[in-house]
Amino acid sequence: MAFSFSSLTNLFSHEAKSVLGVDIGTSTIKVVQLRRDRGRVILETYGAIALGPYAGVEIGRATSLPAERLAEALKDVIHEANVTTNDAAVSIPYASSLISIIKLPNTVEKQLAQVVPIEARKYIPVPINEVLLDWFVISGGKGSGTQSDKLEVLLVAIHNDTIAKFRTIASDATLDVSFFEIEVFSAVRAALDHGLAPVAVVDMGAATTKFYVVERGLIHESHIINHGSQDLTLATSRALNITVAQAEERKRKIGLNPQVDPSLVQSLSLSLGPLLSEISRTAVAYEQRTNQTLSAMVMTGGGAALKGFKEFAQTKIQNEVRLADPFGKTQAPAFLESILKEAGPEFAVAVGLALRRLQEIG
Ligand SMILES: Nc1ncnc2c1ncn2[C@@H]1O[C@H](COP(=O)(O)OP(=O)(O)OP(=O)(O)O)[C@@H](O)[C@H]1O
Ligand SMILES: [Mg+2]
Repeated sequence: MAFSFSSLTNLFSHEAKSVLGVDIGTSTIKVVQLRRDRGRVILETYGAIALGPYAGVEIGRATSLPAERLAEALKDVIHEANVTTNDAAVSIPYASSLISIIKLPNTVEKQLAQVVPIEARKYIPVPINEVLLDWFVISGGKGSGTQSDKLEVLLVAIHNDTIAKFRTIASDATLDVSFFEIEVFSAVRAALDHGLAPVAVVDMGAATTKFYVVERGLIHESHIINHGSQDLTLATSRALNITVAQAEERKRKIGLNPQVDPSLVQSLSLSLGPLLSEISRTAVAYEQRTNQTLSAMVMTGGGAALKGFKEFAQTKIQNEVRLADPFGKTQAPAFLESILKEAGPEFAVAVGLALRRLQEIG
């Protein structure tokens, strides 16, 4: 067994460092504070704050707020959740990033640092010096186990202005940011265990739903669908002739429970059904194109916290539907177990960020 000095000091240290994952979504900011203790990951605190009230709209709706308002909300949730660390990692929205897969001859594997930025110009609609560029070889590379004369490279770009905005928000909230990560990677880290077979991770947010395919631990595809959980609320408000705030409250409290409220179930299903069918079509298209079966569809995001969601989704989707259980990767008091299972999907991105930060500080 290899033992490094730093792991020895951690083993005997009584003051293990706490870290904070910060997910600034369009409708809700989520924070999760973790600490490592003798190899275990301890959940110290977590919290969420709706952005609607900061933008003059209802809870649960997507917003588009300037940095100052987002910082204000972030400070509020940090305070409400009793966060005690400023060692943070922050997600960048998928919609603010550009992710594509490029194919290159495998002879350039050693020169990717020169080749990728040149090649990226074909895929990125703004000047290359305005973006932060990153890439990962997903197949065809040495040690990838796949035989091909082509390298498949996942290209990731984030506009400098986006990073600057998130930097401002974090520093206004007096956080020390160790890294920014596009939410795809954080969500996948928190939602999946190690596995080889392709799996879909679906993040159902307020205005949009994101669909990722992961194979051998790497992202192979990503799509955005322009429907999300706020559509269920808006449809319910119209169908039942109640305010948006009332519809949101009923959606969260009762959900898809026909014994309690059949008309609510009907209006929720009428907008959730087509969204799930679109997700299903995206999965089937992937399976047909690659001639592989997705072993499961793992659901994340607040939209997947809807009561009865999993059972209803399973009626529309052929692959096995599972709810993400990110807090399952952490230790928490036993009496919180069922609460954490229910809230879990919403916190996947924040947990994933904090887990990576913990790995970094070892
Ligand atoms: N318990 C619940 N039951 C049903 N819906 C819920 C529940 N909790 C949250 N939601 C819904 O989930 C949505 C918010 O999910 P989430 O916090 O994942 O979105 P977001 O991260 O802000 O959005 P995005 O990722 O698109 O930027 C809201 O529309 C809200 O109504
Ligand atoms: Mg989100």
